[in-house]
Amino acid sequence: MTCFTVCFKKKASSPAKQTSAFRKACTAACAYICIKASNGNSERNKDEEHVKLFSYKELQLATENFNPRNKIGEGGFGSVYKGRLKDGSLAAVKVLSTESKQGVREFLTEIILMSGMEHENLVKLYGCCAERDHRILVYGYVENNSLAQTLLGDGYSNIQFSWKARTKICIGVARGLAFLHEEVRPHIVHRDIKTSNILLDKDLTPKISDFGLAKLFPDTLTHISTRVAGTLGYLAPEYAMQGQLSRKADIYSFGVLLLEIVSGRCNTNKRLPAEDRYLLERAWQLYEKRELVHLVDTALEDDFNVDEACRYLKIGLLCTQDMPKSRPAMSTVVKLLTGDMDLHEKKISKPGILSELMTVNSNTSYTSSSGWEKQDNSTSQNRSRTYTTMTSPSIYDRSN
Ligand SMILES: Nc1ncnc2c1ncn2[C@@H]1O[C@H](COP(=O)(O)OP(=O)(O)OP(=O)(O)O)[C@@H](O)[C@H]1O
Ligand SMILES: [Mg+2]
Repeated sequence: MTCFTVCFKKKASSPAKQTSAFRKACTAACAYICIKASNGNSERNKDEEHVKLFSYKELQLATENFNPRNKIGEGGFGSVYKGRLKDGSLAAVKVLSTESKQGVREFLTEIILMSGMEHENLVKLYGCCAERDHRILVYGYVENNSLAQTLLGDGYSNIQFSWKARTKICIGVARGLAFLHEEVRPHIVHRDIKTSNILLDKDLTPKISDFGLAKLFPDTLTHISTRVAGTLGYLAPEYAMQGQLSRKADIYSFGVLLLEIVSGRCNTNKRLPAEDRYLLERAWQLYEKRELVHLVDTALEDDFNVDEACRYLKIGLLCTQDMPKSRPAMSTVVKLLTGDMDLHEKKISKPGILSELMTVNSNTSYTSSSGWEKQDNSTSQNRSRTYTTMTSPSIYDRSN
């Protein structure tokens, strides 16, 4: 029995409680299950039985009726509350907004993908609630918020990000991604690696969160054509422009993230002079001038190893190469970061830069047929995320 069967059982026992949107989303989510089943995946099935279905009342109690005082964040699909569950454990309760059809689909995807997956660098999914039109995900609470809010300063933070802490975060995220890409069967492409989806626990161990956009990848394929979903600034060119999704798209996003962690700045900062605005462009200019060290976060003062910091920045450039096949696999990235593999022989060319896409009005979405369009207001909170209209998922041969 899979997690999905669990959801269906619940549905069958109380049909009046289910909306047609939810039923449609179940059908859509079935596509993922089919890919998975046809691939003979049995490794995770036994664990998937353990996804807990919470009642709405239970989650109301846990969050003091979703008290704004307990609200810890807001994303494109809804609000996140801190709560204490009946067993005493702390949880992050993510309530998906009911208007967002996109959210329903992501909701189911996330449950299917995350159930039973355990890794030090992945957020733990405790369970979900699908009562009436409520769609709620319940995660293990991660103490130190996201990299976006702490390192990049969306909110107040007193965390000191020493060089050692930064290397631990980079290596942890790389390990989490290598696990999803290379150990889980079928592989999982996350599709939305970015600073707000990297949470930090009390020891600053990074946890990759938000698998709502993730896709299961049969072993026999390296990329599929799909609608584009992700966040501007992190999108690989081949994915943003042609909808070609592969693990290499995540590796590109990881490269951008790596540059952000070492430099302590966002991938795009429109307040800076033009030549400094886009982190990736800046990194390439400095690399060509052999002055990469100027990109390292000045907040580190002298607390860093120059060679190591420049090596990290070069790995960031390597991960963002224009040609997907030039980007190293995540297990290789882990070795490069830890120093178990030499970077010397790796050729670094100009990265794939999408700055022209980044200059587009932030409240727009990209569609494969008609270019940039106004985004649906139901997801307007999600300022820089992009979606395309659905394209039928045609499948390509292994080519990279
Ligand atoms: N498991 C968790 N533990 C602690 N805080 C969390 C947890 N999950 C999410 N949060 C907090 O809630 C915030 C919102 O998360 P959410 O994933 O909904 O949106 P986002 O990542 O900011 O944006 P997007 O919707 O574009 O992914 C996070 O930035 C984080 O601060
Ligand atoms: Mg998120």
